[in-house]
Amino acid sequence: MHISLLLSLLHALALALPSGLSTHFSGDPLTLANLLLVREPTANATLSFSIHDPDPLTNATALCSGAWRYGSKAWPSGSYWSCSNASIGWNMASWTSWGNFSIGVEHAFQDSSVGKPPYDHVVTFGTAVYDGGLVTCGPRGEGGEVCIQRGGSVVLAPITRVISKR
Ligand SMILES: *[C@@H]1O[C@H](CO)[C@@H](O)[C@H](O)[C@H]1NC(C)=O
Ligand SMILES: *[C@@H]1O[C@H](CO)[C@@H](O)[C@H](O)[C@H]1NC(C)=O
Ligand SMILES: *[C@@H]1O[C@H](CO)[C@@H](O)[C@H](O)[C@H]1NC(C)=O
Ligand SMILES: *[C@@H]1O[C@H](CO)[C@@H](O)[C@H](O)[C@H]1NC(C)=O
Repeated sequence: MHISLLLSLLHALALALPSGLSTHFSGDPLTLANLLLVREPTANATLSFSIHDPDPLTNATALCSGAWRYGSKAWPSGSYWSCSNASIGWNMASWTSWGNFSIGVEHAFQDSSVGKPPYDHVVTFGTAVYDGGLVTCGPRGEGGEVCIQRGGSVVLAPITRVISKR
């Protein structure tokens, strides 16, 4: 087939597809990396990690963090704390120890396949399980502790629920 004919056929095909179909919700897991926890008796405990949602509808990256009183468990649970991009939130889905806990995430973004504006948003929810030596802790300062996620490792947060939202 002549190349220009092939190109014009491809062009016609692309025009025939409704634009909303060109990018689909993939449902791929979010990924969490570089988790860092610092606990020192004289300061608040602080937690941070980076998060990426590879879904082609959003492809968003954000930094999530939180602080709570040393020795307390006043981290977000049930509700979510906003990440650097407020469309993404996190909480402590479960906690046994700093070697075994899970982070819940939610992400709101636009998906024009679910409806017309303003009914064109979805919220995805997922959970990232941190156990099996993914995080190692060591002493820090006077009676403190620092825990870090293994270098270069990524923890998946598979999507467990999706809702559409105004
Ligand atoms: C997602 O975003 C990153 C950085 O912002 C970019 O390098 C990458 O090409 C994007 N991926 C897709 C599939 O758009
Ligand atoms: C400790 O965390 C609490 C709750 O997030 C905050 O209100 C307070 O300002 C923090 N204190 C310090 C010294 O960072
Ligand atoms: C992690 O904690 C959960 C909940 O308490 C428990 O069921 C699980 O066995 C623990 N896993 C490890 C590796 O300790
Ligand atoms: C925040 O996330 C939303 C939804 O994923 C995206 O549309 C927006 O561009 C992001 N904003 C920034 C500043 O990255």
